[in-house]
Amino acid sequence: MANAIIVGMQWGDEGKGKIVDLICPAFDGVVRFQGGHNAGHTVRFADRHFSLHLIPSGILHPEMQCVLGNGMVVAPPAFFAELERLEGAGVRPGGRLFVSDRAHALLPWHVELDQAREAALGAQAIGTTARGIGPAYEAKASRHGLRLGGLGSDRLEQVLAVEHAKVGAEVSALGAPAPTPVAEVVRLCREWAERLDPLLADTEALLAGWVEEGRSVLFEGAQGALLDLDHGTYPYVTSSSSTAGGACTGSGVPPTAIDGTLGVLKAYTTRVGGGPFPTELVDETGEFLRRRGNEFGTTTGRPRRCGWLDTVVARYARRLNGTGALALTKLDVLDELDELRVCTAYDIDGRETRDFPADLARLERARPVYRTVPGWRRDTAGTLELEALPEAARAYVHLIEEEVGARVDLISTGPRREE
Ligand code: GDP
Ligand code: IMO
Ligand code: MG
Repeated sequence: MANAIIVGMQWGDEGKGKIVDLICPAFDGVVRFQGGHNAGHTVRFADRHFSLHLIPSGILHPEMQCVLGNGMVVAPPAFFAELERLEGAGVRPGGRLFVSDRAHALLPWHVELDQAREAALGAQAIGTTARGIGPAYEAKASRHGLRLGGLGSDRLEQVLAVEHAKVGAEVSALGAPAPTPVAEVVRLCREWAERLDPLLADTEALLAGWVEEGRSVLFEGAQGALLDLDHGTYPYVTSSSSTAGGACTGSGVPPTAIDGTLGVLKAYTTRVGGGPFPTELVDETGEFLRRRGNEFGTTTGRPRRCGWLDTVVARYARRLNGTGALALTKLDVLDELDELRVCTAYDIDGRETRDFPADLARLERARPVYRTVPGWRRDTAGTLELEALPEAARAYVHLIEEEVGARVDLISTGPRREE
């Protein structure tokens, strides 16, 4: 049976949650391998609507086993709140939800630091989700972070004192209020340890067992390739590895056990927060996409920046993720447009390039080179056969396949599972 990774091909919010929910019945389990509750994955079916942040979107299928992998940073209050919302909606995660004891705890200090830093950056702010993601990964990389398995440790005070001192010095230099006292965080950790205990597992060993038994695993990426800490538009990125490589380090499953990747590509482009975005539209077409595509953040409610499809970005993401197959989402959002533009190259300082530049300053000077194609001006919502799509819509799909160099295996024309 196959093990596959789902990755976002742009700057997040491509519709990964919907695609995971749609295809996961072909797998035995779903694993999140990076990020935290900065992610917001929306799933709709029939008249139901769910927003998932930490828990894999597979949880909505009653038989699906779900894992929060070691590569994640987990804020226990956000996790418990999500669990309660799911249970309140009739979802039963008992016995099939496992949380890695190696995942790192996201502490109140990380949120305080994230917010103080963003405030201090002013116009240069990254536009983070203000959830403490960067500082939590920083504590992990600095080797004084706290793993979920250590929440009840006897050495808790000692470990936390180091982090408290570091955060305290920085927020004080930034002129922000003093961090939550150590004693309060110790109390919280002990409470969380007790509540999390039944769900904590050595998920690396668990997954190794599944792979050995021939059970198939779907890896649910959060964020998108262009927000990857190494390969994204640094420093306007998140603090984890959101490209396919992250699935191995973030789960403990080796690359030799993984069969392929499926890239989720939105039929146009969006981005939340700061940073370069060559095809951004700050006109009424951008406003039209935002409204028709309901482009407001699942996590923060912020309006998303919108623009034309950028195949320079998608080609780069295809290369990074080794994506042979694409799921194209939100095609229906383009239904009413007379004509569409697709960016196929950048003009940087008078020279045309089809490659995504590593240097942020060059990217900021990039002017998109567009191909203009006719719109279809017909309702595509809920179309289930490729042949039933308007000819201009099929031509748009073929253009994407040609420019990106990957097959479009799935087309989504509405937010619901049925579409
Ligand atoms: P994710 O973070 O990649 O899982 O994506 P989000 O859930 O944050 O954002 C995608 C949004 O688009 C959600 O509100 C989905 O319900 C919605 N959506 C997904 N696929 C489609 C589609 O094909 N058409 C339309 N109109 N909406 C879609
Ligand atoms: P999903 O999984 C879109 C963006 C933030 C900000 C940058 C860093 O729903 O696609 P962070 O809080 O991670 O330190 O913020 O990354 N960002 C996302 N944008 N979708 C997401 O997740 C995102 N997660 C983080 O807006 O620009
Ligand atoms: Mg999202």
